[in-house]
Amino acid sequence: MVVALTGDRPTGPLHLGHYVGSLMNRLVMQGDFEQYIMIADIQALTDNFEHPQKVTENVLELIRDYLAVGLDPSKNTFFIQSQIPEIAELTVYYLNLVTVARLERNPTIKTEIQQKGMGESLPAGFLCYPVSQAADITVVQAEAVPVGEDQLPMIEQTNEIVRRFNRIYNTDCLKECRPILSQTTRLVGIDGKSKAGKSLGNAISLSDSPEEIKRKVFSMFTDPDHLKVSDSGKVEGNVVFAYLDAFHASKDEVAELKTHYQKGGLGDTTIKDILNTTLQNLLDPIRGRRAEFKKSDLLDILRTGTNKTKEKASGLIEKVRGVIGLKYY
Ligand code: TRP
Repeated sequence: MVVALTGDRPTGPLHLGHYVGSLMNRLVMQGDFEQYIMIADIQALTDNFEHPQKVTENVLELIRDYLAVGLDPSKNTFFIQSQIPEIAELTVYYLNLVTVARLERNPTIKTEIQQKGMGESLPAGFLCYPVSQAADITVVQAEAVPVGEDQLPMIEQTNEIVRRFNRIYNTDCLKECRPILSQTTRLVGIDGKSKAGKSLGNAISLSDSPEEIKRKVFSMFTDPDHLKVSDSGKVEGNVVFAYLDAFHASKDEVAELKTHYQKGGLGDTTIKDILNTTLQNLLDPIRGRRAEFKKSDLLDILRTGTNKTKEKASGLIEKVRGVIGLKYY
């Protein structure tokens, strides 16, 4: 079976952007891939090192979200990044193979640096997290990485490191990987301004209450010029339609709604009601399952997965040390 690796930072609840961006693919892939799902606590520390509890407190919430959406612990290996020190060791070897200039050109990092206003105070650890991400992927020899579009630069960076390592140390012990992208790789935030993100406060979380979901749906940006029901409305840039495209089961019905909305005679309240029902139906069972897992079950799943990952990682690190020549006794 082809190995897949993916993961998220434990800094807050997963939201609908995660759901369409990568969770749906991970659900389809489970069973057909040897899939590793990593809780990226070390990566989360690169911009939260001053308040580590923001990271550590979210670890169990993240595994709870994974299980609640239907990722099956008998078909996936869940582990915590910090519990595999081989990842940190690999990162150190890889850091020699990447230039600072290359890291500064990484578009995802660039955007994050701007968003967080890091400027002169940019920590080296943050700039270098793509290198650590290359270690995450290669430590289990993953060839498939189900992620959202924003992670493509990380995959590219990983493959550059893999090729460089294999060439310099004359080996084939590292494997190149490919992204597995979903149809909706980028879900807009409810404000319509940017991508849905937990830090931007414009996302609907998988754990939001029914009231919260409704409130967010009814505050969605639509068409500011669509004042009366009889007015014709714009579908492009209309968040409600973007979400209907992503989540409604019937493409035909959505197409009809769009035509009606553009023609005039279809009010925002009606389309928001339809979207609200769609999202409540999707999230109700997920919320229900969140409550089912005991803390001890979650810890057991993580412990088992970490042990399995550890075996794989120590095998690879032996090979890596061998090809570099770090063997003295
Ligand atoms: N960078 C990813 C995020 O921001 C999380 C992540 C860490 C990841 N390591 C990974 C994703 C390896 C895929 C593969 O959410």
